[in-house]
Amino acid sequence: MNEFEDNDIVCRHLQLTKSEIVKSIRDKQLTTFEQVQDETDAATVCGSCASDVEAILEEEIRKRKDG
Ligand code: FES
Repeated sequence: MNEFEDNDIVCRHLQLTKSEIVKSIRDKQLTTFEQVQDETDAATVCGSCASDVEAILEEEIRKRKDG
């Protein structure tokens, strides 16, 4: 679990909220951190949000597996 609410900014450089990142992950069925970077540009400026973005991705992958 990560500590973000849907409308919280996860990547402040790109002004990306958790829900925007989750939407990309779900719509495009992303599975790797690099794919999330390609799609959203998250964590491509300072990189300090990388672990948070990864945590969100992992949570989504877990949900996908659980159905
Ligand atoms: S906060 Fe995401 S790249 Fe800086």
